[in-house]
Amino acid sequence: MDTKILSGKVVSESVYKNIKSRIDILAAKSINPGLAVILVGDDGPSQVYVQNKTKTFTNLGLYSETIKLKKETSQKKLLEILQKLNDDNKYHGILVQLPLPSHIDNETIIKSINPKKDVDGFHPLNLGALAAGKPTFTPCTPKGIMRVLEYYNLDLSNKHVVVVGRSNIVGRPISILTSLKREYSNATTTICHSGTNNISYYTKQADVVILALGYPQFLKGKDIKLGAIVIDVGINRVKNTETNTYKLLGDCEESSIKGKASSLTPVPGGIGPMTIAMLVENTIEAAEMEL
Ligand code: GUN
Repeated sequence: MDTKILSGKVVSESVYKNIKSRIDILAAKSINPGLAVILVGDDGPSQVYVQNKTKTFTNLGLYSETIKLKKETSQKKLLEILQKLNDDNKYHGILVQLPLPSHIDNETIIKSINPKKDVDGFHPLNLGALAAGKPTFTPCTPKGIMRVLEYYNLDLSNKHVVVVGRSNIVGRPISILTSLKREYSNATTTICHSGTNNISYYTKQADVVILALGYPQFLKGKDIKLGAIVIDVGINRVKNTETNTYKLLGDCEESSIKGKASSLTPVPGGIGPMTIAMLVENTIEAAEMEL
């Protein structure tokens, strides 16, 4: 079977093109969408993500500022900084890059972000609205997955979606989104995780597999049915010990999935670029509240 490659890069470019008119409307009212990103510590992948976010905002003429803090920064200090950002009109969106050092409690930090500036959609108020199918900030990566499916006209209605991974960032919210009664969703969704025995028992039955577990090449061709759609959210940096170089691998084994799946998001160039595009969109949404 010919496997269609679903390019998130292409979809993200269409998002940026479509967003220009919204930026112009805001500019006419002297509103420049602004994002504050907080990065605590020196986690390598987080630094790369944050740089990419800043670069994209700058290229679009939007305002973004990264606040880099030492990994020893106290929770109290972080809460003080967040309070200032909550009160500062320059910032329509606030993002605290995860993971945070272990002495900081994620939940306390996320809860202290003004829900109206929570462009990640991680605040319990926003997550609650998402679960109830009400308008809210939708977490960027799950929102990006849905946008790719829509762009390629892949309707989930009456399909069986199997999500592998239950993180608050991807697995949990995408399991909610895919099962909502709304256009392109309306799926029957199963969520598998580290407590699931024999995950392939479920993936073999899936019309759509969404992989968000962070385990390189976890899903093989033998684990899916012919014609399944595979959405690979994994971005795993794997070292080749012979050449001493790093390679980015997804959560599926591309060589065996290709030829068996009907569609596949590649790594890199699949869901990755969509996360940032959706962050831009959410920040613009936040700024539009001022209109
Ligand atoms: N770390 C990995 N993905 C994300 C994300 O989407 N938002 C934040 N804040 N941290 C992350």
